Amino acid sequence: MIDQAKLLRELVKEKKSKSKAAEKRQTRTIAVTSGKGGVGKSNFALNFALSLIQKNKKVLIFDVDLGFANVDVLLGRSNKESIATMLEKDFSIWDIIEEGPNGLLFISGGSGFKDLFQLDEVKLNKIFSELSSLQGFVDYIILDTGAGLSYENLRFILAADDVILVTTPEPTSITDAYSIVKMLHSRDQNIHIKLIINQCSNEKEGKQTAENFTAVTERFLEKQIGTLGFIPSDANVSNAVKKQQPFLLEFPNCQASRALQKVSSKYLQTPLPFKLGIKGFLIKMLFK
Ligand SMILES: Nc1ncnc2c1ncn2[C@@H]1O[C@H](COP(=O)(O)OP(=O)(O)OP(=O)(O)O)[C@@H](O)[C@H]1O
Ligand SMILES: [Mg+2]
Repeated sequence: MIDQAKLLRELVKEKKSKSKAAEKRQTRTIAVTSGKGGVGKSNFALNFALSLIQKNKKVLIFDVDLGFANVDVLLGRSNKESIATMLEKDFSIWDIIEEGPNGLLFISGGSGFKDLFQLDEVKLNKIFSELSSLQGFVDYIILDTGAGLSYENLRFILAADDVILVTTPEPTSITDAYSIVKMLHSRDQNIHIKLIINQCSNEKEGKQTAENFTAVTERFLEKQIGTLGFIPSDANVSNAVKKQQPFLLEFPNCQASRALQKVSSKYLQTPLPFKLGIKGFLIKMLFK
């Protein structure tokens, strides 16, 4: 039985012993999630990734929406390989990474990935060693998760360095987002959650929604949540989805694209505390 706490202690020691200069890149993991489905997570994750790339970062999207993986569909591709086929065919991680526009890298969990938490130790170790080799190779790994509070989703979210919570201003979406914060906070009081208000009518509505939401989490959960930004409702998002192209590339000057560029600039400007990166994510996600 692999001991998660022991592995994490060893990783902290390893990180401390390496000088910062020796590390090429820090490789942060960011989970993009929501309470309610269909609020715009996958579109956000994909276009946020592309916007970080435009700001000279190297980014990989890991589609871990186990039921309805669709980052590849948004890119007009159909991913043949996945973590599931990597295990089946004994491939390496480099065999399953796909390259999208502007050097964006992406991988998907695949349908067999559903049984991730029932895998034997040999397979868990294989996933660990393959995915660990991404440490230092990319700056960000963005996880596009499913909606809601499934067991698998919680494992992914709690293992990530940062959580970006997407909600729309609609009360149903807000209520479900609040449930997510409550659950995550009860599991890990130090979890970093940042809010995106998507599909707002205008910035004023976005700001108001974010202010109300963060005031409620602070008052009732004593949880401080940062607001990352607002993306307006923009017909070009849906037009780009129909063309299977990312809206940031297809319509770079549309309202949603401009708002997203602000969001990624803000993300990069916010100083982030020391975290354990992809290896820490894998240890927390795979081993109990
Ligand atoms: N800012 C926006 N403006 C207009 N439409 C949007 C916007 N964001 C998302 N949408 C619409 O919402 C649809 C759903 O978006 P998306 O697939 O990204 O949601 P999701 O949260 O990933 O869904 P799921 O929970 O099923 O994974 C998109 O196809 C698009 O039509
Ligand atoms: Mg999605």
